[in-house]
Amino acid sequence: MKYVIGNWKSNQNLTESLIWVDGIDAIKPHFSPDVSVILCLPFTDIAGFNHKLSDLKIPILTGAQNVSHLPPGKHTGEITANMLGELVNYCLVGHSERRRDFNETSQMVAEKAGFLLGNSITPIICLDLPYLDEQIKELFQQNIDVSRCIFVYEPIAAIGTGHPIDPIDANHVANQISFLIDNAAPILYGGSVSADNVKSFVDQSRIDGVLVGADSLEPTLFAGIINCLAEK
Ligand code: PGA
Repeated sequence: MKYVIGNWKSNQNLTESLIWVDGIDAIKPHFSPDVSVILCLPFTDIAGFNHKLSDLKIPILTGAQNVSHLPPGKHTGEITANMLGELVNYCLVGHSERRRDFNETSQMVAEKAGFLLGNSITPIICLDLPYLDEQIKELFQQNIDVSRCIFVYEPIAAIGTGHPIDPIDANHVANQISFLIDNAAPILYGGSVSADNVKSFVDQSRIDGVLVGADSLEPTLFAGIINCLAEK
């Protein structure tokens, strides 16, 4: 199975998200049974977006971009894994923007992964080199079943720059991650992925797909990436 995962970050309100679905519906990308297409949305878009996808029978799965590291209770404003369980099958955790801007630690990432798995949501765990070992160690310390997760190598320097890293280097780090998790889960690459470069990543031996930021916001660009994988 190959994966194309979009990450809208803090973009698109509900109205804009529904226009995006119309855009994809008009383009009709080639959805292959061998390629899982997942879009990670702002919380506020998810319910309406899911509705429209099912009305139009578009085989895109949805994910959230964050979840509370706390259980349900007195935590004003937090969105728990229990709440997300009715809405999504996937959730990003540990994105470098959350580590940098919201002080998300490896311990919190592991706690979030635990709550997600407890609610049948697959954690999509983002990693980068400075904290690769530390973060994976923390997952094992908290008894997270890594075989039920998806991992993404996202070098910070490549995010949002239009300059992805060399696919051979990405594959090298994917192999390191694979070794640390005993080859138990899919490993993706993220950082300035586009339709022009996606094949060079998924052609690598240990890269099972891509996480796409900017180019997931435009239906034409995202459909281009889906089509590249479907043709493989
Ligand atoms: P980008 O973002 O594709 O815009 O580089 C990737 C990400 O941050 O997930």
